[in-house]
Amino acid sequence: MILEIKDLHVSASDKMILDGLNLTIKQGEFHVLMGPNGSGKTTLAKAVMGYPGLKITKGDILVDGKSILGLSTDRIAKLGLFLQFQAPVEIDGVGFVNFLKSSLESINDKTLNTREFMKDVKDYSAALKMDKGVVGRSLNKGFSGGEKKKAEILQMALINPKLAILDEPDSGLDIDAIKVVAENINNIAKKNNQSLLVITHYNRILSYMKPEFVHVISHGRIVKEGSLELIEHLEKSGYEEFEDHNR
Ligand SMILES: Nc1ncnc2c1ncn2[C@@H]1O[C@H](COP(=O)(O)OP(=O)(O)O)[C@@H](O)[C@H]1O
Ligand SMILES: [Mg+2]
Repeated sequence: MILEIKDLHVSASDKMILDGLNLTIKQGEFHVLMGPNGSGKTTLAKAVMGYPGLKITKGDILVDGKSILGLSTDRIAKLGLFLQFQAPVEIDGVGFVNFLKSSLESINDKTLNTREFMKDVKDYSAALKMDKGVVGRSLNKGFSGGEKKKAEILQMALINPKLAILDEPDSGLDIDAIKVVAENINNIAKKNNQSLLVITHYNRILSYMKPEFVHVISHGRIVKEGSLELIEHLEKSGYEEFEDHNR
């Protein structure tokens, strides 16, 4: 069991956002979390990664059987969790490749062989069809939306986490880029036997991926679980049937 989320209640600024959420992910499993805007998807990702602005009022989050409540994002990353944010930050003056190398070294507590590291960067960025010039730039500075997303997938490939949580890896991408990003996520996770939690609002990206478990979130709770057929069903009928208008 890599990740166990038990009866999780999370609030921010006195507003209850997650309201008794349960989710379990085992090694090598591919899960998808879908739900309408504002249902709590990003909050769940942030809560798992120890985001400081959130208050966990009830429940628990366990990684490899141990509670991670109260741990810093850094410590959680060292346990093997990786989070791709919906809107990656821009940092001026920090070279993209240097940033990748130092974040990798900090997570693994060891110095990397530059030649091997650069070979991995080259191979993965080619698979992602990233422009060669991107690699020399400042972190995310002047990256297009698509380049930022690809840069994050490159980071995931290099870090090789036990579990990657990808929050809307399809947002801001054109159709060609969605296909490249989705196929790379799939291939990288499979090759390294990583677990995946892909969060998305739309199902287009899922036509290029093969998730095994689908969870639907509404008002901070999982309201429906199933396999790929659930995505097809959602495509036809939307989220409306899962809405509880009394809450
Ligand atoms: N820091 C915060 N303070 C107050 N409300 C928040 C905060 N973060 C998120 N929310 C609210 O919680 C709800 C869920 O947000 P979010 O998790 O971003 O949804 P999703 O990613 O599913 O679109 C929204 O109503 C949002 O406005
Ligand atoms: Mg979100």
